[in-house]
Amino acid sequence: MKIYCLFLIATLSVLNAKAQGLGAVYLRCEYKENPVTDVTSPRLSWELTSKENDQVQSAYQILVASSAELLSESKADLWSSGKVPGRATYQIGYQGKPLESRQICYWKVRSWDKSGRVGQWSKMASWEMGLLSKSDWQAQWIGLDLNHLGKGKTYHLPPAPYLRREVFIKNTMKKARLYVTALGLYEFSINGKKAGDAFLTPGWTDYDKRVYYQTYDVTSSLKPGSVNALASQLSYGWYAGYLGYSLLVQNPVVRAFYGKVPLLKAQLEVTYQDGTKDIFTTDQHWKAGQGALLESDLLNGETYDASLEAQGWDRVGFNDKNWKTPPIYPDKPARQIQVYPGPPVRITQTMPVKSVTERATGSYIFDMGQNFAGIVRLKVKGVKGDTVRLRFGEKLYPDGRLMTENLRMARATDTYILKGDPQGERWEPKFTFHGFQYVEVTGLKTRPDHQTLLGLVIGSDTPKVGSFETDNSMVNQLYSNIDWTQRANYIDIPTDCPQRDERIGWTGDAQVYVKSATFNRDVASFFTKWVVDLNDGQFENGAYPLYAPAPSLRKTDTFSPGWMEAGIICPYQIYRAYADTRMIVQGWPHMVRFMDFLEKRSKGAYVFKENAFDDIDPKGGFGDWLSFGKKTPPDMLASFYYAYCADMMAEMAEAIGNQKDYAHFTKTAAAIRKAVLTHYTDSEGRFKTDEKAYGKGEGYVDGALGFTGHTQTAYANAIYMKILKETDTGKAGAYLVELLKANGGKLGTGFLGAKPLLPALSASGHSDEAYKLFLSKEFPSWGFEVENGSTTIWERWDSFTKEDGFKYNAAMNSFSHYAFGAVCEWMFGNAAGIRPSKPGFETFDIRPEIAPDGMGKDGINYLIASLHTINGKITSEWRKETEKLTLKVTVPVNTTAHIYVPAESPNHIQLDGKPFSTFTNAKVTKQEKGYVIVEAGSGAYQFSVSQ
Ligand code: BGC
Repeated sequence: MKIYCLFLIATLSVLNAKAQGLGAVYLRCEYKENPVTDVTSPRLSWELTSKENDQVQSAYQILVASSAELLSESKADLWSSGKVPGRATYQIGYQGKPLESRQICYWKVRSWDKSGRVGQWSKMASWEMGLLSKSDWQAQWIGLDLNHLGKGKTYHLPPAPYLRREVFIKNTMKKARLYVTALGLYEFSINGKKAGDAFLTPGWTDYDKRVYYQTYDVTSSLKPGSVNALASQLSYGWYAGYLGYSLLVQNPVVRAFYGKVPLLKAQLEVTYQDGTKDIFTTDQHWKAGQGALLESDLLNGETYDASLEAQGWDRVGFNDKNWKTPPIYPDKPARQIQVYPGPPVRITQTMPVKSVTERATGSYIFDMGQNFAGIVRLKVKGVKGDTVRLRFGEKLYPDGRLMTENLRMARATDTYILKGDPQGERWEPKFTFHGFQYVEVTGLKTRPDHQTLLGLVIGSDTPKVGSFETDNSMVNQLYSNIDWTQRANYIDIPTDCPQRDERIGWTGDAQVYVKSATFNRDVASFFTKWVVDLNDGQFENGAYPLYAPAPSLRKTDTFSPGWMEAGIICPYQIYRAYADTRMIVQGWPHMVRFMDFLEKRSKGAYVFKENAFDDIDPKGGFGDWLSFGKKTPPDMLASFYYAYCADMMAEMAEAIGNQKDYAHFTKTAAAIRKAVLTHYTDSEGRFKTDEKAYGKGEGYVDGALGFTGHTQTAYANAIYMKILKETDTGKAGAYLVELLKANGGKLGTGFLGAKPLLPALSASGHSDEAYKLFLSKEFPSWGFEVENGSTTIWERWDSFTKEDGFKYNAAMNSFSHYAFGAVCEWMFGNAAGIRPSKPGFETFDIRPEIAPDGMGKDGINYLIASLHTINGKITSEWRKETEKLTLKVTVPVNTTAHIYVPAESPNHIQLDGKPFSTFTNAKVTKQEKGYVIVEAGSGAYQFSVSQ
């Protein structure tokens, strides 16, 4: 008995010790859980949990095995990292045996804590290798040219091709994988069941250079010992459909930028128990025909005549005698075929109808209550031939009509023709999406109800990582608007807008917003994909394009300062947020080429005073797009961006251990700064007001109001990009405040000025001014949009006003444009004060700026924000109480925070209700401008500051 007890105690203490060790969770490979990848040294990551405060990892060990059985016995036949000392928990490249196509790798990890205790092995995770070489592909490109059937006058919208084949699967099937891609869009099914849940596959790329494929585990969809039906519908998509905004400028080329006929390439690989395989590929054994999908276009919508359904076409036994043998189309040798690296586009949420209103004309307006990108599912009953038409819009006119003018030539109309099923019919389109809040439905024979439509939100499925809440409802609505606009525009690529005939990857919009995006969603793999698009779109001369992917929609679409720098800024921000250096290494030759381009353009002057961008139209570039009042000269902004890029290049060179380039870009950055100051500032340290100092370009702006360097945008950018000497930041901040005052306390900034405006005010000691702008509800401001009923961020500050309605040129009036949402960066980085001091938030600051007093309901007295970083979840929460301020912070395991407690002295601070001095894992490091700076390891902290 005694022995038993002792044994029990010993066992319990072992369990206890283990329970106290570090836990490794959320195992990911290339930013995804259990993915398919073709990266041959994929990067692994995990997060740590601990029951103790102030914990760090002192070492880790990774095991990778070729089977789950081997891994469970800890037999790592592929790779054992050994015990690796240090804190690294992410961006750890696999370094085991070379991996082959189709190989599945099972892995686990364990960590040692700071006192050398080893934690338990994590749960098992896995990744699977895709097809690593083009020669793994036996499948051919097949398709059916139906272009001659496009009937419309305004739009040429041919029907969607349908492709099918039946295959026999032996009854000893062990597993099956389906590899599919398309030039255009595809949906693939097996025995009538859609493979996977992704939408708009395989995504948009420069199809002449690369196309992505998806891999599906279809083991459970196939019937062994039986005939199975493989079926695919194709659509025109970005490859062959309408694209971009060429219609606006009457360019006769409005569709089929990459090719005319959508094509499919698919390979089903079935492995049997004895290790043998059957590979079924797209080839001449397939049959091609048509079905109910009469029109299918990304921008224009779909028309589906259910009475024409080829019943059972996607199942076994369908008579395809009259279908054609699809021609085989040649491949382009230069085109690479790779695993889709981004997060899939999916239906991420359903949206019930908020209200239905009957219009006098017999049509109905459905209000979804939220502007979003997606489609609707229609439920309807009627007789064969009844035609239900769905038109989509973001706004209604005051008289209740649907406003569609701002869609320009995007028809954004779905039509469903009933087959007359007495049980009722359900339909949703497959290859289109709309940006909308309202749906106008006509053609219903019976009165609809809320169930007639269901909204389906689509977007790249980027995990939510941020939250932001205050006691101010306007601010909360603004944050919701920002996140919704991001979701509506991160659809395979970062687009400008989801509704009009544009929806392209404008680089300026993307670069001003990328940092904000990282606060809301995990966009690491999303940008892993898009940065390749950017690099693929780089011009011969080294400039990054205006939009990526970059089909040449108009001859004049080339590059512009403020836009082209996305090629540097996006990889840099991804590096800062996720400590991703691989993106830097892979993009380095492109980035260096771009910097060479800038150097050449500056002709050794390090500023662009010689109208360096005169060859592009509009002259000098877009400048501070959609700003008010006098315009900031584009060449001046270009020079600032040059310095900013050189700084980022120096930092990134250092991060990848490239000392030579580090030295070079450090020197370049200094030279640019010197030249900028000499050329653009006067003796008072102000930016010159004399127009002669600037390029002669008119700028692509509303109204030629002339240029001056003395603008909000100029100072905001100069402070944000640290163009000025540190000692002059205060002066620049004062000019900025002076300019705001002169403008009635209102902002006048456009795309390039709005992002740095609040951060620059905060950085120069004018946090209260930043808050005033942030909390303002007067035109122009973020609050003004909210006051005017917005549920998303608008393209223009006054896209709509209650008094004047739609004031602007409808062609340029999107209600879902994220650029001005870049204020999100200040909300998290300043108001909540969450800022990385080392990439990936391995160390970070919490430096909250507390909102000014005396604003009553229009102010902020309580704020809570959180960010789930690659290191785990950080929280910053502050509350103003009578004579007291509380600040709560959570610091993830394995990280260190510098918490800036807003207090005059440590004596005013209590931590978790006790005097500060009693703590060992949180210590005061210094005091600075109204803050006591506390260094803290992992854990939760509650500070209370007496005022
Ligand atoms: C887009 C913008 C874009 C701009 C170029 C517009 O049509 O919607 O967001 O950056 O063109 O200035």
